[in-house]
Amino acid sequence: VTFYVPRDSGALALGAEKVARKFQAEIESRNLDARIVRNGSRGLYWLEPMVEVETPNGRVAYGPVKASDVAALLDNGIAEGRVHPLWLGLTDQMPFLAKQTRLTFARCGITDPVSLEDYRAHDGLRGLENALKLTPAEIVAQVTESGLRGRGGAGFPTGIKWKTVLDTKGEQKYIVCNADEGDSGTFADRMIMEGDPFVLIEGMAIAGIAVGATRGYIYTRSEYPHAIAVMNEALDVARKAGVLGASVLGSSYAFDIEVRVGAGAYVCGEETALLESLEGRRGIVRAKPPLPAHKGLFGRPTVINNVISLASVPVILDRGAVFYKDFGMGRSRGTIPLQIAGNVKHAGLYETAFGLTLGEIVDDIGGGTATGRPVKAVQVGGPLGAYFPRALFDTPFDYEAFAAKDGLIGHAGLVVFDDSVDMLKMARFALEFCAVESCGKCTPCRIGSTRGVEVVDRISANIEPEKQIEVLTDLCNTMKFGSLCALGGFTPYPVMSALTHFPEDFRPAPSTHF
Ligand code: NAI
Ligand code: SF4
Repeated sequence: VTFYVPRDSGALALGAEKVARKFQAEIESRNLDARIVRNGSRGLYWLEPMVEVETPNGRVAYGPVKASDVAALLDNGIAEGRVHPLWLGLTDQMPFLAKQTRLTFARCGITDPVSLEDYRAHDGLRGLENALKLTPAEIVAQVTESGLRGRGGAGFPTGIKWKTVLDTKGEQKYIVCNADEGDSGTFADRMIMEGDPFVLIEGMAIAGIAVGATRGYIYTRSEYPHAIAVMNEALDVARKAGVLGASVLGSSYAFDIEVRVGAGAYVCGEETALLESLEGRRGIVRAKPPLPAHKGLFGRPTVINNVISLASVPVILDRGAVFYKDFGMGRSRGTIPLQIAGNVKHAGLYETAFGLTLGEIVDDIGGGTATGRPVKAVQVGGPLGAYFPRALFDTPFDYEAFAAKDGLIGHAGLVVFDDSVDMLKMARFALEFCAVESCGKCTPCRIGSTRGVEVVDRISANIEPEKQIEVLTDLCNTMKFGSLCALGGFTPYPVMSALTHFPEDFRPAPSTHF
């Protein structure tokens, strides 16, 4: 019998380690012929720790399992997948999973994250093998043709970025994976690194071959200790198996990867600040141009891509650009891992083709709020993303459609709030966050964020609120158009969307009128 107990951070935070130890102890004391695989998460976080068992009909899930449930589960025949109050049925048939289109996350939660055999058995390395049969320009053309756009948030076409690096001369080129996932409510990068690290390794190796880079770095944050451990374990396995090293899968290409850990500043997710940090300096934003594609790490041509962009490449090279491009809408092609969080019933990761409406995501997939109260707002795209009211729930999940509504999909994190949220406080939070995280290089962000907090406080204190709202609007315009990077430039999104869609929260409470 094989039991699956996740080693994903989300599951560990909810007690998965104790559950795994209890299973181990029970297996030994009962003398069972059983083994435990520590898999990644399937992404149904409200059911973690979700334990699965292999049965002749497929894997059966139970959850959320506590260590104190384990003995009873074994007594009741979990090994045969029998019904129990925690029984969830066949995992693949659970509606939250069955309705997804899992391309990037196809293996996550299914395989043993550090077993290369398991990875291969589930179609792993086929993209890399195909890439080795193509010329670098042909690989880049495939990625361009697929329509893949940067999943870190900006949505820049990945193929065009790679072509810029391929066409730039340089004795040494680099692939840098931006795994500094700092957005609130996002966890897709972490889930891939903990649940299917080989897909990221494979994607980076393909990128290296495509642009002529021999070294790769995964820059991640110290808050991700489990992801760091799994990545390093997988890198060792990949090196020993010849997937990485002087001859990638026996080819004439060399490629190797190192994990580098940052100290957790939000701005280090900005690509040029990340490069500064990687070079051993304080994370301060560099002016662009030059683009990292021309002069990046140590001044060399560098591809910087988010984890999900790179992890989406193997399936494109395996199944073909046309297969990938067939999913999605408009200029948003392929799939996107939605990360549904905040006050929501079904919090988790849901990979699907672009195009679902915000309402479908929050109400149908997310199941509404966890508190059962009405949804008031959803912040899409991290702490710098706009707040969407119910009135905009018909917006399809697509880069352009969100931009047309003064929002952004960013890294596809959605944080749900019920009607008890005070949007003036949320606007203040955005400005305060910017003040704390600002790298200090440019004035609109460094000074503007602090002045913005003061202005919001004057609105709260009912000191000339109408005039303060005018000042706040003016300040947001200055930050939006005058900041050097997205941190200062995008802080106006949450502030202005709160003001535009929830003006009542910016007026003094009725009681203060009397
Ligand atoms: P950007 O629009 O300046 O650049 C996008 C990417 O395209 C960069 O890598 C840039 O170097 C590259 N690029 C632009 N023109 C190019 C060309 N001609 N050739 C080759 N490469 C080219 O956006 P930026 O500042 O990199 O990112 C902003 C986004 O980051 C926001 O949309 C936000 O959603 C997201 N973000 C994501 C976070 C996360 O945790 N994933 C955290 C904070 C922000
Ligand atoms: Fe630094 Fe803020 Fe300016 Fe970005 S906008 S460069 S974080 S001061």
